[in-house]
Order: sequence, then C-alpha cells, then structure tokens
Amino acid sequence: MSEREIIRFENKSSLSRDAAYRFTALALQTHLDNRPFRVALAGGSTPAQLYSLLATPTFRDTIMWPEVHLFFGDERCAPPDSPESNYRMAEETLLSRIPLPDFNIHRMKGEDADPDRAARNYEEAISNAFALSPGELPRFDLILLGMGRDGHCASLFPHKASLQERERLVVAAEPGLEPFVPRLTLTFPVINNAANVLFLIAGADKAEMVQRVVNRQGDPEEIPSLAVQPTIGILTFCLDKDAAKLLG
Ligand code: 6PG
Repeated sequence: MSEREIIRFENKSSLSRDAAYRFTALALQTHLDNRPFRVALAGGSTPAQLYSLLATPTFRDTIMWPEVHLFFGDERCAPPDSPESNYRMAEETLLSRIPLPDFNIHRMKGEDADPDRAARNYEEAISNAFALSPGELPRFDLILLGMGRDGHCASLFPHKASLQERERLVVAAEPGLEPFVPRLTLTFPVINNAANVLFLIAGADKAEMVQRVVNRQGDPEEIPSLAVQPTIGILTFCLDKDAAKLLG
C-alpha cells in the first residue's frame, strides 16, 4: 500500500520548516520503535535550509542523533571538500553542528578515481549497515530528493543507463546537468523500497516538470522523477508556490 501527498508552501523557508518537523517526527517514531533512523540525504541546493534548521536547537535538541544514520542519495565524483560535493554542503549546514557520531555518517567516496569501485564500496556500506541478505533491498526510513529542471532526481538523469538498473543498489552514473562530473547514485529499486520519500522542490524553473510529475504525465526515460513510486511507502511532494504554480 502506498500513499502520495502534495503539499504547497508559500516559500522555501516554510517548506524547509515543515520538512524539519517531518524529519523529527519520523526520527521520534523510529526511536519509539526502538530502531535506528536511517536517512538518505539529498544533494543540490534546496535541502540546505532544511539541514541548517535541523542543526538549530529546536530540532537538534529533540532528535536522538546517536540513533540516526545519515547516508547520501547521490554524490558528485569530487573530493569531500570540493564546492561540488554534496557531502560538503551537508557537512557545512548540518553534520558539523549536531552530536552525530562519525560512524553514523555514511559518505559516498566521491574522491575515488574509480567511480564504479566507489559505488560498489557504498553498496557494501549499505549492506553492512542494514545487515542485508544477498539480493535484499535496504528499506530507508526516509529518502530526501530534489528534482532538477530536467526532471532528474538523485543522479538519475534522462536517457541514462542508470535509470534501467534493477540489480545494483548504487551505481556510477553519467551526469545530465551541471556539474558535468561523474556521479554516484542510489538506484530506483532502493528509492522505491523506502518507507518515506520526500521531494523538496522550490523555484519557478521546476514548475513545468512538477506539473508533469505530479500529474503523472510522460515517460520516466525522459522524466526520471516519474519513476519514483514507493512500493510500500509514502511519497510526499513539498513544493513552494513557484514550483507548484502550474498545478492549478
Ligand atoms: C545533485 C542532487 C540533485 C538535486 C537536483 C535539484 O547531486 O545535484 O542530488 O538530484 O537534488 O539537481 O537541485 P537543486 O536543489 O539545487 O535545484
């Protein structure tokens, strides 16, 4: 059974605050279930406000960080101190400001000169963290996603081979938008096995794609975000009013 919800916000600030409360509520739920809270962070720029909010006392002092494990949905193949690094963005806005044990941070090694080796290493890290049996998929409690103006999510870009991957958990992927560097990305089987997938989308430049994705119009080969359909999970679109302006 899957659910879908579309929520509109006046601006990115109110969108980010709502997402912070959602993150915190899910963290509390897994705490009450006596389970770790395992999250895949989104890259790009939109989530930065959310991450900064999570590092403020209201949220920082509520979340049981030792029970939280932070992964990445994708990464650019660049050093962790590179301006292109999704890890660097998360580190500056969140990781350096919360009491999260280092071993709870599962970084994709974008600096590896061999992206396929880095992808396989990250698969092993996920497999260990989730204690997966061979062929078993991890079930993230929450996967955060942004969406590009071309309809990509994570580093799953239109017409790229990574869209068709059904066996691997993590693959090296070709970029379809700037920065044009090789990428590492979770695959759709992993994304669609999550309990909660939360898109954070803001800005008028996303409006056309938001309309097509929310209305389920088009081909996932052309608009990869259409392929985000959790098997048994909740798919939530948090949209600012500019991104939602064509939804009627
Ligand atoms: C990345 C992201 C990517 C991002 C979208 C939206 O590595 O770039 O993972 O999927 O979420 O491109 O990016 P913005 O939030 O910057 O618009």
